[in-house]
Amino acid sequence: MMTTQSQIPQAQAVREKFAAAGQEQVFAYWDELTSAEQAGLLEQAQALDVDYINKIAKQALDSLSVSQETAHRIEPLPEGSVGSTLTASAEQQQAWFQQGLELIAQGQVAVILMAGGQGTRLGSSQPKGCYDINLLSHSSLFRLQAERIVRLQNLAAQTFPQHAATAVIPWAIMTSGPTRANTEAHFEAHRYFGLDSRNVIFFNQGTLPCLSFDGKILLESKGKVSEAPDGNGGIYAALHRHHVISDLRRRGVRYVHSYCVDNCLVRVADPVFIAYCVAKGAECGAKVVPKSSWDEAVGVICHKNGRFAVVEYSEISSEMAQLTRADNGRLAYNAGNIANHFYTLDFLDRVPTITDGLEHHVAKKKIKHVDPTTGQQVAPAKPNGIKLEQFVFDVFPYTDNLAVFEVERREEFSPLKNAPGTGSDDPETSRRDLAEQHLRFAQAVGATVVKGPEDPAPQGEISFELSPIVTYAGEGLEFLQGRTLTTPQLITKPL
Ligand code: UD1
Repeated sequence: MMTTQSQIPQAQAVREKFAAAGQEQVFAYWDELTSAEQAGLLEQAQALDVDYINKIAKQALDSLSVSQETAHRIEPLPEGSVGSTLTASAEQQQAWFQQGLELIAQGQVAVILMAGGQGTRLGSSQPKGCYDINLLSHSSLFRLQAERIVRLQNLAAQTFPQHAATAVIPWAIMTSGPTRANTEAHFEAHRYFGLDSRNVIFFNQGTLPCLSFDGKILLESKGKVSEAPDGNGGIYAALHRHHVISDLRRRGVRYVHSYCVDNCLVRVADPVFIAYCVAKGAECGAKVVPKSSWDEAVGVICHKNGRFAVVEYSEISSEMAQLTRADNGRLAYNAGNIANHFYTLDFLDRVPTITDGLEHHVAKKKIKHVDPTTGQQVAPAKPNGIKLEQFVFDVFPYTDNLAVFEVERREEFSPLKNAPGTGSDDPETSRRDLAEQHLRFAQAVGATVVKGPEDPAPQGEISFELSPIVTYAGEGLEFLQGRTLTTPQLITKPL
C-alpha cells in the first residue's frame, strides 16, 4: 500500500480537516514517512471522525472536574429492592435453577463474554482468558468457562430430554485488536474445549485514539495513531456492527448472560440468575456482592437522578464510599458490581436507539507515544495521557426495571486483576478461592478431603479441583459421598 498520485488531493483534504479540528500534529512527520507509511496513516485518519473525537474528549475531560455527587443526585438502592441467594430458600434456588435450565434446554439462552480488555494490571502479554492460574488441570480461564457451558448443555439435555436437540448455549466472545488473534488461536489449539465451534462467535469491539491530557491525538509511531479498545461499553455498538444480535435471534435466543473474563468463579449462563430476571420481567439485570471494604475496586449499583446506575470505583469519592447506614452501620453503597449482566435480546437490540450514545469515561494511562518535542518514541513511567472508554453498565439508567441480584462472594466472585504475589485479586487468590469452593462442594455431599504429603499447596490451602465437566455448581457429586480423598486431587469424571 502506497500513496498514489490520486491520493494526494485526498491526503490534503484529510490533513486540512485535522488541522481545522486542532489535530494537525497527527501529520507532523508526514514528510518523513515512506509512501507506504503515508498510505497507512491516511487510511487510519480517514477512518477517524475527528470532530466526534474532539466532542467526546471534551465532554469526558470536562466531566473530570465535576464529582459524581455534585453533578448528580446519587442515592443508595432502596432497601428490599434486591433479590438474593443469601436469603432465598434452598427450594427457591433449586426452582430457579430448574427454570433457567429449561430455558437453556429450549435454546433460549446465550452468553456474551467481554474479553477485549488489555489486562494491564495483571502484566501478562496474553489475553487474560488464556491465563493459567496454576490449577492442577492448568486450565485457562477460557477453559473453565467453556467447560461450564459444556456441563450446562449436558445437564439441560439430560434433565429435559424432549429438548435435547436445542440444548445449546451460543457463546459470543467480544475481543479487541490486541486480544483477537491470541484468543482465537487459544480456542483453536484446544479444539474449543469440547464445544462445537459453530456455536462460538468472535467479534471485535471498536477502538478510539489515545489522547494527551489536553485532548490531542497521540501518535504511537510517526506514521501511526495510537489507538485503544473503546471500553467494555463498546459491546452494544459492536454487537450490532457485527450482526451478532440477528445471529442470536436466528438461533432462537431470547435471554443473554454477559460477564467479565477474569472471574474464575463465574457462573456462566447461570440458570438461577436468568430465571430470577425472567421472573421479574426485567429487561436487564446485574449481580452484586456486598463490598468487602469501602475501598474495594468495584463499582456500586445505586440510584442516580432516580434511575438505576453504577458509580465506578474510579469515580466515587472516598466520603461517599465510606458513608454508612444509620440503622445497621453497614456501608450505604454496598452493592458491589461484579460485572455479570442479564439482558433480553430485545433490550440489546434497542440499546442504540434508546441511548443517544453512551458517555465516555476517562482512564489515565501510560501511553507509548512519539514525543512531539523530540520526535522520539517514549514508553512513559507514569500516566501521560488518556483513553476514552464507554462502560457496559451505563445502559442501566435506560431501563425502568433492573433486576439486582445479590450473590455470595465466595461462590461467585474472585476476579483476577493483579500480578502474581500482589496478595489480592491475583492468580494465587483465584486458585485458592476455587479450591476452597470445590472442597465445600465435596464436603457437602459427605466426602472427606485430606491434605496429602505430596500436595504442593501452601499452608492452609489445598490442591483440590473438580472439573466443570463433573459439576457446575456442586450438583451431581453424589458419587463422592462417604469417600476419603487425598490431595493433590483432580476429579475429571465420576469415580
Ligand atoms: C469492572 C467493572 C466494575 C466491577 C469490576 C468487577 C466496568 C466498566 N467496570 O471493573 O464496575 O466492579 O469489573 O470485577 O465494567 N473489557 C473489554 N473491553 C475493554 C475494556 C474491558 O472487553 O475495552 C472487558 C475486560 O476484558 C474484562 C471486563 O471488560 O472482562 C472488565 O474490565 P476491567 O478493566 O477488568 O474492569 P474493572 O476495572 O476491574
